[in-house]
Amino acid sequence: MDDRTSKDALADDSAQNQNYENAHVEAAYARWAPIYDLVFEAVMRPGRKAAAAAIRGAAEQGGAILDVGVGTGLELPMFEKRGHYVGVDLSLPMLRRAQQRIAADNLSHVEGLAVMDAARLAFADAVFDRVVAPYVLTVLPDPWASLDEFLRVIKPGGEIVLVNHIGAEQGPVALVEAWLGRRSASLGWKPEFPWSIVGDWIAARPCRLLERRTLPPLGLFTLARIEKL
Ligand SMILES: C[S@@+](CC[C@H](N)C(=O)[O-])C[C@H]1O[C@@H](n2cnc3c(N)ncnc32)[C@H](O)[C@@H]1O
Repeated sequence: MDDRTSKDALADDSAQNQNYENAHVEAAYARWAPIYDLVFEAVMRPGRKAAAAAIRGAAEQGGAILDVGVGTGLELPMFEKRGHYVGVDLSLPMLRRAQQRIAADNLSHVEGLAVMDAARLAFADAVFDRVVAPYVLTVLPDPWASLDEFLRVIKPGGEIVLVNHIGAEQGPVALVEAWLGRRSASLGWKPEFPWSIVGDWIAARPCRLLERRTLPPLGLFTLARIEKL
């Protein structure tokens, strides 16, 4: 019986593929930045809308919300304006685009942007009501380290809202994803990301899964809401 956890699998994976680390993610998103909106604006719009809807209640109450991996800021105009938002990202070229969007669209509910690693957030404990991370977890070299940081910076009763592509467990799609996965370093994300990475982390931490549902197009993406106990 294989009793290895998804964390072990990830550790093995990173040991075998030393290429997938922050420097390569940064290089990949420096390449993506000029064309990112063109390629990913429409296909990932439903997930951004779902993430914005999931944090709307907290935003209406004037809550503090951290957007991790804000990228070019495509989700920012969708956010309810009564919230107080800060966006962070590892990639300066992506953040520059987000800054241009904030100025062009007068998104004054976004109070700050900063270059920051999701696995080392420069915020005190329990300061945010929500952490939202659309399309980010599968990009991170060490998702557990980042999830731990998300949990640290939210208040008890606060929520983490994730949207991601969760890899197929079997069949031809799983094979294609495994093949693509060997190119993660140049793509800038991990196509074969299994749900167990999130599920095992929830089981090991003081939190609970509030919601998990698939999203359009074609159920390709999954929204998860996790509450800090
Ligand atoms: C697929 S994009 C998602 C951007 C945006 N949330 C959206 O919905 O379009 C992933 C983003 O995560 C950022 N990222 C990757 N690794 C990161 C890290 N360790 N810390 C913070 N951001 C990171 C990338 O630079 C990129 O902007």
